[in-house]
Amino acid sequence: MKHPNLNRLKSKADAALIAFLNRWPADEGDGLYAPVHYLMQLGGKRLRAVLALSAAEAEGRPLDVAMPGAMGVELFHNFTLMHDDIMDEAPKRRGQDTVHTKWDDSTAILSGDAMYTLAHIAFLELDVQVLPRALQLFNQTALEVCLGQQSDMAFEERQDVSVEEYLEMIRLKTSVLVAASLGVGAIAAGASPERTAIWIELGEQLGLAFQMQDDLLDTFGGDAVGKQIGGDILADKKTFLRLYTAENGDEEARRTLASWDGNRSDAAAKIEAIRSAMQAAGAEVAAKELMSEQVGRALACLDRLQLNDEHREWFEFLTGLVTQRES
Ligand code: IPE
Ligand code: IPE
Ligand code: MG
Ligand code: MG
Ligand code: MG
Repeated sequence: MKHPNLNRLKSKADAALIAFLNRWPADEGDGLYAPVHYLMQLGGKRLRAVLALSAAEAEGRPLDVAMPGAMGVELFHNFTLMHDDIMDEAPKRRGQDTVHTKWDDSTAILSGDAMYTLAHIAFLELDVQVLPRALQLFNQTALEVCLGQQSDMAFEERQDVSVEEYLEMIRLKTSVLVAASLGVGAIAAGASPERTAIWIELGEQLGLAFQMQDDLLDTFGGDAVGKQIGGDILADKKTFLRLYTAENGDEEARRTLASWDGNRSDAAAKIEAIRSAMQAAGAEVAAKELMSEQVGRALACLDRLQLNDEHREWFEFLTGLVTQRES
């Protein structure tokens, strides 16, 4: 999927991030900054930065006003990936070795901490008029992401997680940052609290669909994903796919889930068995139905924002991108 804005905004964000990070060269600090540069240079969609810049433009201001916030949310996102990969014992990210695999856990913890700090340094370059509101949203979001990640890990051990609990967990670990990206962009552009709230609501719905697509790609995706396929199954993550299969699958599906619980002895066999059970239960179709409801609610927020045709069309494209992406 292509749109001229995608390349334009991603390139602007990338250029700004490179210039910013060059202030902390890779060869300084005993490997503290090298993993930061490594992860950032591996690519990534830069979705959170693009959303922040897009919201500022849709509010009628040049994207530059939001660039510090766009860099801040993107650096924060990459920090969460560095720590998430330790927590999830993930070997691959963006098609390459994860930081904790290439270096070690301590390096990934500390470089992640540095990245979190860099995100705040980036934010400080926002106009002083908008900085308090932007930082307040950002810090509240950061705490919520921690809560979401905590639930995500705790759910690995639980068998009684409900779909409602899953949705709250992904809202916290993923949606709130997608929402804050739009919110920070709007705040940087001087949007009213009322309009900012609609942007945040839009981002929350978009973020839910985004994480559901992430879960689908983890189980059913191809090489483009750049992560270990089946990692969620292996770790007994309580994704919608898994919960739906436990609830709606037949006796055999339930036996399959139970028999592999906590067992990583044969990764390939576990992934294959549970993926087949999910398919047979119709979990993929059910997930897509739920995602289209979330997309519908996101589009309703777009209506309320009353954007001009050009911005509306761009956000409709972005909404489609979230659910149709393959990486
Ligand atoms: C992955 O995020 C982590 C989630 C919150 C699902 P992305 O899919 O946006 O990762 P990159 O930045 O494009 O690599
Ligand atoms: C990640 O969720 C959410 C955060 C990093 C906060 P996942 O664990 O599903 O992300 P991936 O699949 O590793 O990118
Ligand atoms: Mg995780
Ligand atoms: Mg992960
Ligand atoms: Mg995932």
